[in-house]
Amino acid sequence: MSSTVANGRVGAMLLRVLGASFSPMTSRAIVRSAMTQAGRDSEDLERLGVDGALLGHLLRGVRFYAPDPTHAARCRAALEDLLQAAAEPPPDVMVPIVREVDIVRARQEARTIAAAIGFDHTGQVKIATAVSELARNIFRYASTGKIELSTVERPSVGIRIVAVDHGPGIANIDAVLSGSYRSKTGMGLGLLGCQRLMDAFEVDTAVGRGTRVVASKHLAR
Ligand SMILES: Nc1ncnc2c1ncn2[C@@H]1O[C@H](COP(=O)(O)OP(=O)(O)OP(=O)(O)O)[C@@H](O)[C@H]1O
Ligand SMILES: [Mg+2]
Repeated sequence: MSSTVANGRVGAMLLRVLGASFSPMTSRAIVRSAMTQAGRDSEDLERLGVDGALLGHLLRGVRFYAPDPTHAARCRAALEDLLQAAAEPPPDVMVPIVREVDIVRARQEARTIAAAIGFDHTGQVKIATAVSELARNIFRYASTGKIELSTVERPSVGIRIVAVDHGPGIANIDAVLSGSYRSKTGMGLGLLGCQRLMDAFEVDTAVGRGTRVVASKHLAR
């Protein structure tokens, strides 16, 4: 079973995620044991991907083998990302945020998509600004992460932005979004400004695990 697991796309992704924290042998043992416990054979993994039940068994394996809680938390976040990615259609554009210039690239990609969808100049600037605030936060506070951009059809044609990182998370997110937070580094209006610029805005963050912001803006029907 281990060779099939290692050769398939989902299997390879799983082993890569686990491989960041465990040896190849332990990674394979975690996957194999989770598959058995979930009552699935290795071909199921490629056909059906990673579902909630399998994820639960994988996480139990991670906790069993994890050398320390930080490792386990990071691994868990990466596995959850994998599950989410498997469940959602791939984005139109993915911009990894690794260097400062990537912020500009994310901003430009967003503006190009916004223009193609039919947003006017003001709409394009709002979308580009929101993306560059999110990308800048990733670069500044989490070092690395990614911005995903997709066009959506509902409730009307629009753009969906997903900003993901596995950085330190935002401990005081309620204060940040209520406007009572005083930033030490910037004006502290980035996330709040972003929320105002977009039609929908959600932050999912956990200390030590990272931050995921999902925002969208739609054309008036
Ligand atoms: N991706 C992130 N990871 C960890 N912490 C973050 C992240 N994004 C924001 N934060 C925290 O939330 C605070 C508020 O972010 P926000 O973007 O609103 O303001 P700022 O970055 O401090 O200032 P500005 O964006 O105006 O330059 C930041 O100061 C930082 O502590
Ligand atoms: Mg900011």
